[in-house]
Amino acid sequence: MPIVTVVDFMGEVQKEFTVESGTKLLKALIDHEADIVHECGGIAKCTTCRVTIHKGVPTKKTQAQQERFERAIKAGGTQFDHPGVFLSCQVVVENDMKVSVSETFNSVIHDSQGKDTEDKVTPDPVWIDHEVPDWWGN
Ligand code: FES
Repeated sequence: MPIVTVVDFMGEVQKEFTVESGTKLLKALIDHEADIVHECGGIAKCTTCRVTIHKGVPTKKTQAQQERFERAIKAGGTQFDHPGVFLSCQVVVENDMKVSVSETFNSVIHDSQGKDTEDKVTPDPVWIDHEVPDWWGN
């Protein structure tokens, strides 16, 4: 079973757990009580569930994520223009993965961590290829 390692931005391990292959990453993070905001409940709308994937970057991404990132980049969100940045609600864990969470809960900014999320990727995924450049390691 794949191992998901959650690190902070200093690379310190916060959590490590195994998941069934095919598990939605956001669901796995929530089920293992990782500190991650997910305002829209996993429908590729809010972008609060985004993670940086340091190892095990998927070679596919959803069309919904692609379109949401294109809108965000157009609006000046340069952080979305990176091959390791994904919406965790749009990722299926198939291999070992090392991730860091972008938005952790802060009661000054957030009312709650967010709505519950379904087990499956929503909306129904249309998968497109995702290129991971050599400089990102992986
Ligand atoms: S985009 Fe809102 S939870 Fe993933």
